[in-house]
Amino acid sequence: MNKKLIVGNWKMNGGLAANAALLQALKAGLPQGGTAGVAVAVPSAYLAQAQAELAGSPIGVAAQDVSQHEAGAYTGELSAGMLKEFGTRYVLVGHSERRQYHGETDAVVALKAQAALSKGVTPIVCVGETLAEREAGQTEQVVKRQLAAVIHQVGHCVSELVVAYEPVWAIGTGKTATPEQAQAVHAVLRAQLLAATPKAADIALLYGGSMNAANAEQLLAQADIDGGLVGGASLKAADFLTIIAAAR
Ligand code: PGA
Repeated sequence: MNKKLIVGNWKMNGGLAANAALLQALKAGLPQGGTAGVAVAVPSAYLAQAQAELAGSPIGVAAQDVSQHEAGAYTGELSAGMLKEFGTRYVLVGHSERRQYHGETDAVVALKAQAALSKGVTPIVCVGETLAEREAGQTEQVVKRQLAAVIHQVGHCVSELVVAYEPVWAIGTGKTATPEQAQAVHAVLRAQLLAATPKAADIALLYGGSMNAANAEQLLAQADIDGGLVGGASLKAADFLTIIAAAR
């Protein structure tokens, strides 16, 4: 893996004025020289604003979801082609909040990943177990099942994915997986990717779930943690910049 990747997930937060202030602070505060790759996943209503604010900056625009369909009678949905038109570099697919509140299955997530790839938008495929699944000893089985669906769907394009391991019990709870817990799952995912492509070492494996300015460095020091998917802490410029600096 070459350079690390830090992606902010704003979820359903923001507003025109607050976004402008946050993006300007990020642009101004980016470490000089070889920084980690950085992107922000903004609500779709703000894709155009983010594209305009971030034009000419190394910070990429990401979306939080995409339809598996190309066009048509899918009220409320956004196609990968539309995301591409707004300069979107990445899109989250299968975030646990989409799986949980919008009934997204492994099969739907896989189709979304494929739809994104077909338009040149890099899918960030989110996988992760619930607390009940972890306590039942099913963590490996769950994340492998979630990733297998995508690998099967995208075939030889697997090396173009970004994968994010986000234990559901760590998201927004302040409970982070320990670096060792996260690394153990990342190693499982890396091995699964290696079985699918010789380029597995180049696939960015992000950790997400209460990553913050205080714990990022230790998490990012793990062998198979290539970056972070950061929710709450990405809404505060100083915290997000500290995480970016830790990813050098
Ligand atoms: P969190 O969210 O950092 O607020 O836990 C991470 C995510 O859901 O992507």
